[in-house]
Amino acid sequence: MSQQKSVLLIIGGGIAAYKSLELIRLLSKGGVKTRAILTEAGSQFVTPLSVSALTGEKVFGDLFSLTDEAEMGHIELSRSADLVVVAPATADLMAKMANGHANDLASTTLMATDTEVLIAPAMNVRMWDHPATQRNLATLKQDGVRVVGPDEGDMACGEFGPGRLSEPAVIADQIFSYFTQKAGPLAGKSFLVTAGPTHEPIDPVRYIANRSSGKQGYAIAAELSKLGADVTLISGPTRLDAPAGVTRVEVESATDMLLATERALPVDGAVFAAAVADWRVANQADQKIKKQSGGDLPDLALAENPDILATISNHAEKRPSLVVGFAAETQTVIENAQKKLAKKACDWIVANDVSPETGTFGGDQNRVHLISKTGVEDWPLQSKADVAKNLAQRIADHFGE
Ligand code: C5P
Repeated sequence: MSQQKSVLLIIGGGIAAYKSLELIRLLSKGGVKTRAILTEAGSQFVTPLSVSALTGEKVFGDLFSLTDEAEMGHIELSRSADLVVVAPATADLMAKMANGHANDLASTTLMATDTEVLIAPAMNVRMWDHPATQRNLATLKQDGVRVVGPDEGDMACGEFGPGRLSEPAVIADQIFSYFTQKAGPLAGKSFLVTAGPTHEPIDPVRYIANRSSGKQGYAIAAELSKLGADVTLISGPTRLDAPAGVTRVEVESATDMLLATERALPVDGAVFAAAVADWRVANQADQKIKKQSGGDLPDLALAENPDILATISNHAEKRPSLVVGFAAETQTVIENAQKKLAKKACDWIVANDVSPETGTFGGDQNRVHLISKTGVEDWPLQSKADVAKNLAQRIADHFGE
């Protein structure tokens, strides 16, 4: 790492707080400077003296301490670091963060920061599994907060399960890779990626959908983020976790996906990997449609969905400088994809042959062609993860030209 990086470490209360001392030591060994906020609960488990002995800095603890405010206000404190780390992140701290509470130095600082945040949760397994904690976790991920752990294992309270603080070495590694990523070729560039299927409601309980897993789009979002990009992933319903550091916006229908996509503009680049349903139900029912005796079937009228890729490619004011679409074809792959490139006015199309004999659908391997106005690149058969990695690299090369 070229310039010395710094972390603001918020130490929550919990038996795992002692591990934060080892974390500070590892960070310092890796050339990362740490400033620490010790919450009141945290100070029941580790002393300010041991923390400051390791950071070589004063430890911050009291929001209303006039001397602290004179030296460095909480706003400045929150912005003085390259990354804010909460370890251990207790159920209480997570709840405060998810709900925007600001009633002590730790929570106020977390509210005031414009720096990215990594949390390492640690708590009793039942507290971790509690729906409230899981709800808060989902909110925090949605807000783009990075999460490491918790691990599963024997706990200090005598129970077993998820809730143990990740090992300090694992947390330190996440911090180091965050800094490496931020120095990546796409640092400072913003991207949106669409992924997954869309669900088109028939009535409040039924919908039309497709079999897209969202894996390829999620992998692309993750790879762009690893190269330093600020990524918004607009995802239809999937079973996948949001990749670390990516802001996910979850949507259901194509109409919602278009709205969320327009809201994410302006961005430098956009990758449209979603399998958007071509049609929605025009006469969507407000109430569950009753099955009729006598075999009368409901009349479903279909309407064409908006083409999100074409809409963004033709955006008058906010067209991203690079727009990438996908094309799944079963015959004359390249020719059809070239037509699609022109029709949708995008810059590149990633085309693949999904005819049944290729095994692409549902499989892990993919053979794609990268098609632009200037030519066709035939990529070798490779894993979908490698397609994502190579595409992200080609995008980085494009922006580096
Ligand atoms: O026309 P077709 O569905 O084959 O085009 C595929 C490309 O267009 C993909 O990049 C897909 O994400 C995008 N698309 C879209 N909105 C639609 C249909 C397709 O963004 N309604």
